[in-house]
Order: sequence, then structure tokens, then C-alpha cells
Amino acid sequence: MKAPLHCRQWALAATRPALLVLLALLASTASPWAPAHAAEPVPGPEPSRGLIDFSPADMARITSHGPWPPAQALDAGNRFAGQPDAIALGRRLFFDVRLSINGAVACASCHRPDQALADGLARSVGLSAVDRNSPSLWNAVHERWFGWDGAADSLWSQSIRPLLDPREMGANAAHVRQVMAADSDLACRYRAVVGRRITAAPATSPVAPATATATANVAVSPAKPAPVATIDDDEAVLVDAAKLIAAYVGSLVSGRTAFDEFRDALVRGDRAAAAAYPLAAQRGLKLFVGRAGCGNCHVGPMFSNGEFGDIGRPFFIRPGVVDPGRQGGIVALRASRYNLLSRWADAGDVDAALKTRHLAAQHRNFGEFKVPSLRNVALTAPYMHDGSIALLDDVLTHYSELDLERLHADGEQLLKPLHFSAGERADLLAFLHTLTDARAREEPPVSDPPCDDAQPAR
Ligand code: HEC
Ligand code: HEC
Repeated sequence: MKAPLHCRQWALAATRPALLVLLALLASTASPWAPAHAAEPVPGPEPSRGLIDFSPADMARITSHGPWPPAQALDAGNRFAGQPDAIALGRRLFFDVRLSINGAVACASCHRPDQALADGLARSVGLSAVDRNSPSLWNAVHERWFGWDGAADSLWSQSIRPLLDPREMGANAAHVRQVMAADSDLACRYRAVVGRRITAAPATSPVAPATATATANVAVSPAKPAPVATIDDDEAVLVDAAKLIAAYVGSLVSGRTAFDEFRDALVRGDRAAAAAYPLAAQRGLKLFVGRAGCGNCHVGPMFSNGEFGDIGRPFFIRPGVVDPGRQGGIVALRASRYNLLSRWADAGDVDAALKTRHLAAQHRNFGEFKVPSLRNVALTAPYMHDGSIALLDDVLTHYSELDLERLHADGEQLLKPLHFSAGERADLLAFLHTLTDARAREEPPVSDPPCDDAQPAR
């Protein structure tokens, strides 16, 4: 299995050729905007189109936010990652409310395709309300840590938590196994992908009514010897289910955006194509990578360094109760039964496991939250780990009026109140809107042929 590379590593590796092109351009011409063929007439810019002035430093930073999509990444420690039949089964499970203990909540309840795989709420509600905002799952496979506090080190272990969390889906391993075994189609697909039969066990937990009819069709007859190995270990089925779901989530990479077209046009030196990018967005981008310093943290093709930061948001869950953020995330990750150092991780990604091994919680991690990717950010209001900011414009107010008192003493050297003018604010907003894939509110098609139980397991 191909190990997903470290986020920064791949950003560098991917941009090196682009930088070379850029340097060549800079070296060969007085201006990076001189047309490649001097004899060719360059169409004069229309009044509302054209290119603003980007310094070589601006250009290098802009280039580093691509290319998109990046090289394929795969969920660490998940032997099903990238397999089409696992993705198809995982998709069914992602939308299946029967996996929750009351038969009413699925992953898709809080990661809704029509909400760009977030849910539009400040804080999500499953069986009851949780403390944090649901992040979009687009491009999650390109994250290095999962959850706002990074309490999981793989997509599959992150997928176990909501299944078991009493406020999210409230299930347990026996319930998940029972649902999988009792539905003949799920059981058939499980056997085809995993290569083992799930044995039907007496229900140890109430199963949602939807499965009651399916129970009659249980594929396993104890009288006949099963042709493939059977599995009756609840926890193994739970982990497999999470890995299958994670195979689906890991396949969700959003498409190219207006920004990506602009960035690639710059790299090619295609002035005419680059000029199609709105001037306001160009000014906003220049501010983003320049004076505003946003690109210090929201960097690389994901517009995130994959790390954690403190931008001076309050982090109270309710009066008197604090969300420890990254500090608690590290403690939880190290203690997790399902981290990449656990026996449940499939062999393969040594680098990813090493990152987990070397983590140590430090006091400065208290109140830090993950730097979120800004791809499709215009579609995923409200914002921040607790959904405490309603609109993108209000996020800009936060950065404009930053309260330095709130930042850690040893905290972010990177932040200062930016005092945006009305024009700068409009430009930054215009830029952030160009990070949207127009199809991020559609469910991507997945090939999903019917399962034939007569077929031998692979
Ligand atoms: C009750 C709503 C809810 C349900 C149900 C739910 N999630 Fe989430 N999801 C969240 C919230 C809230 C977070 C942020 C969690 C945190 O920071 O601790 C999250 C985070 C995640 C992340 C991390 C994304 C990132 O970029 O860090 C992944 C992956 C994920 N969920 C997948 C799933 C899967 C798979 C399921 C179903 C098995 C699921 N979720 C069910 C609300 C939900
Ligand atoms: C020091 C690193 C850092 C810098 C610099 C920075 N950010 Fe952030 N940004 C973060 C972190 C960390 C969060 C999440 C904070 C939280 O949830 O409490 C965040 C959250 C956001 C969000 C909310 C996204 C979401 O999905 O909830 C937006 C939008 C955003 N930043 C835009 C910007 C812009 C625009 C700038 C420049 C003006 C900027 N950021 C500068 C670290 C940074």
C-alpha cells in the first residue's frame, strides 16, 4: 500500500517542478508576465479584467497552494483503502441509519452531501448535541490528524468514535456486527470484500426495525459448512466496518476551483487565461499570501499546514467548562485502543505510526485547534471548532480586530489585528469564494454493482 506522504513533504515535492518553471520564467524575462512568444499579439485586458502586480515572492507562495488535485493519498493502516468494492460498501454504511442504536442517525446525518459533507449547524446533533462543529469530509484523506483536536491518526479510527459515542450514533460493536450480519446484502458484500462470513449472533442490543425483515434472509446457515472463514468477533467487525466507511470517505476529493485554474495559468505563464480570474479575488489572494499572513497557517494545496494553532477564539464548551483542544486530543490519541500503534492497524504505513509514537502533549497545546482547510469554505458555515462564527465576513472581523490578550503568552507570533479596510475585506471574501468546487454539494457517483452471494470471496 502506498504510504501517504507527510503533508508538507508532498506540498514541496509537488511544487518543485512548478517552481522550476516559475524560476525559468523569471530568469528568461524581465517581467514574469512577458508573453512566451513575444511576436504573438496579447489581447488587451478588458476594463474589468487583467492582472494585478504579483511580486516573485507572491508568485512562489501562490504556486505552493497547488497543484490540485494532489497525488493520491490513502488512509494509513487501512487495508481496504482505495479498493472500489470496499468504497461501494463503505458508502452504503455511511448512509445507513441502522448502524446507530436508535436506527435514526447515520454518518450522513452530520456530514450531508447537500451541505458539502458538513451539516450547517454550529454544533452537531446526533442522539444528542455534541460540543463541536461538523467539519466537511471533502479531502479528509489529505489531513494528517482527524478531529479539531487531532484525537485520531487515521480516517478509520476517526470513524469508530461516532459509531460508539453515546451522543452521536450510540452503537456498540455487537450492534454493528448484528446489523451487518442480518442484512443479506451487507453480509454478502462484507464477505466479498473482507473474505470472511459474519456469523449471525443473538442480538445483544436492540436492532432497528428496518433490519427485522432482513433477518429472515441471513445468508449464513449454521447447518452448512461455510466456504470461507467465519468471524464472530464483534470488535473485528466494528473495526472492519469503520475501515470500509473510511475507504469511502477517503475517496472524496473535491474538484478544481477558479483558484486552481488561475494558479496553473500563472505556472504556465498563460497571462490571458490568468486574467479570467476576477480582479477582486486577485487582490484578496495577494493580501492572503502577503500582508494578512493567512498563508502562514492556511498553506499548501489544502490551505492548511495540517497542524494546530490558537487564533484567540474562546474555547468554552459552556460556562466553566473548557475544551482543551489539541492538548486533550494528544492524550486521547495516545490512549486510543484504535490508534496506528494498536493491533487493529493494518501493516503498511510506518511513517504515520511514527508520528503518533513521537507525540507528546505540551501545555502550549491547550486551547489549540486544527488549522482547517479552506477549500469549499464558502459552503460550510458556521465556522470554527465550535461553530461560534456565523459568516465568513464575521471570520474576517475576528482577524481584523484580534484580541491579543486572548492569545497564548508564548503563542502565535503570526497574528496581529489586521484592521482591514472595507475594500480589503471584500477582496478577501471574493478570494475565499474562489476556493469552491461548484460540485461540492453533489454526491459523487460510486460504481456499485449488485452483490451475488454465489460468487467466491476474493
Ligand atoms: C452527531 C454528528 C456526527 C455524526 C453522526 C458523525 N460525525 Fe463525523 N464529525 C462530527 C463532528 C462534530 C466532528 C468534529 C469532531 C471533533 O473535533 O472531535 C466530526 C469529525 C469527523 C472527521 C474528521 C474530519 C477532519 O477533517 O478532521 C471524520 C473523518 C468524520 N467525522 C467521519 C465520520 C464518519 C465516518 C461517521 C459515521 C461513522 C461520522 N463522522 C458520524 C459530527 C458527526
Ligand atoms: C496562526 C495560524 C493562523 C493564521 C495566521 C490564520 N489562521 Fe485561519 N484558522 C486557524 C485556526 C487554528 C483556525 C481554527 C480555530 C478554531 O476553530 O478555534 C482557523 C480558522 C479559520 C477559518 C474558519 C474555517 C472553518 O472551516 O471553520 C477561516 C475562514 C480562516 N481561518 C481564514 C483565515 C484568514 C482569511 C486568515 C488571514 C486573515 C487566517 N485564517 C489566518 C489558524 C490560522
